[in-house]
Amino acid sequence: MSFPDVMEKLVSLSKRRGFVFQSSEIYGGLGSVWDYGPLGIELKRNLQDRWWHTMVRSRDDIEGLDSAILMHPRVWEASGHVSGFVDPLVDCKACQGRFRADKLQDAQCLKKPSKKPGEHSECQLTEPRQFNLMFKTHMGPVEDTSAAIYLRPETAQGSYVNFLNVQQASRQKVPFGIAQIGKAFRNEITPGNFIFRTREFEQMEMQFFVEPGTDMEWFERWKAARMEWHRGLGLDASRLQFHPHGPTELAHYARAAFDIEFDFGGSLGPQEIEGIHNRGDFDLGKHQEFSGKRLEYVDQANNKRYLPFVIETACGPNRTLLAILANAYREEPVPGEQEGRVVMGFHPALAPVKAGVFPLTKKDGQPEMAHAVADDLRKRFPVFYDEAGAIGRRYRRQDEAGTPFCITVDTESTKNNDVTIRFRDDMGQIRVAASQAADVIARHLAADVAAADSRRVPAA
Ligand code: GAP
Repeated sequence: MSFPDVMEKLVSLSKRRGFVFQSSEIYGGLGSVWDYGPLGIELKRNLQDRWWHTMVRSRDDIEGLDSAILMHPRVWEASGHVSGFVDPLVDCKACQGRFRADKLQDAQCLKKPSKKPGEHSECQLTEPRQFNLMFKTHMGPVEDTSAAIYLRPETAQGSYVNFLNVQQASRQKVPFGIAQIGKAFRNEITPGNFIFRTREFEQMEMQFFVEPGTDMEWFERWKAARMEWHRGLGLDASRLQFHPHGPTELAHYARAAFDIEFDFGGSLGPQEIEGIHNRGDFDLGKHQEFSGKRLEYVDQANNKRYLPFVIETACGPNRTLLAILANAYREEPVPGEQEGRVVMGFHPALAPVKAGVFPLTKKDGQPEMAHAVADDLRKRFPVFYDEAGAIGRRYRRQDEAGTPFCITVDTESTKNNDVTIRFRDDMGQIRVAASQAADVIARHLAADVAAADSRRVPAA
């Protein structure tokens, strides 16, 4: 099954509704760098909070960490990033374009008409050279090579260098994990596809330290658990798949690896949103060697000491957010109306705004009552109050924002002290006491079904 290409529609809806803006737009923008607007930051935070809850708070064998972006430069020598985190780059002297030598087939020359690099008669491609993807900067006032440091290209190394700190402070025993959410930077040669591949992005990574010999069993366990987590976001199961890494694809640190891919539709198609890696003792071994500090785990109960193996789950929230946007986008006709509607069918637990609250008219005490209802709801979840325009248009605006519930105060409401709750996905309505509205919505959210459907949970 092929899924439609909604990328252009997502870029425009994201700007119009405040999910994602181009960085520094008033200066013409900065290539492939994006800012998250009022709805985007709520959606991203809900996603990250959900990950943190699953990986850290709901378990007793994973600890959280927030390590610094700037690290000792030797870290990146030990990790292999200084020598190995490179892509082959070719420049075109005619159009000044820069392309990945191994991806020329997917690239476009900057000259029109559109052709692949090297296909125009004027193209002058250089020989490939290795280009390191790490951003370099200088620490302190002196700009010499001795002060050069890097912006981290992954959060993982912060967890490895803190392995013993965390283990000893938390008194964890192997097997246990360290989880982080944080920024990472890569000077990608060919960023693009909106927020799919950018130079500044975030990662939600977890490093699980296990006894050698038990690693493949844990690898399989984490593979299954992470796929289940992505399904739980409401991502359509038929758009998710595993992609095993063959010997030529494996990263320098990996003994085995699988990507979790989501089918973004159109020409982008299935792409990695998370990687699960068996990193063996590569990282702890290298840091032990380069730092000269012993990083072995002492298993006192069994009188053993060893370097644990690491099973890593490495997810990108920006890419996963793009998957959530692509998965949620739908256009559909509305019975009895000429214009259809655009719905962002987010899983209710991820939706940036949980409820829209509207008075039907601006008179007869309706705005006052609607404000009181909104204030009550706002103590528990993000709410949007709106009294501008026809009620149909207000519903449409919330459908586009992915708001799962809309509460309307009408002429009956002020007499009977009740409201209607309208469900985003089937536009059905129920009438409940105004004092019960927050509880009804909270019940729907707490039930947390693995589907992006606001009607799936019974109200009682
Ligand atoms: N520590 C292992 C590691 O970093 P990775 O596969 O290079 O593994 C993990 O990255 C995840 O980070 C990817 O699955 C992707 O979701 C996200 N990611 C990587 N590069 C990215 C980029 N340039 N822009 C956005 N997300 C990116």
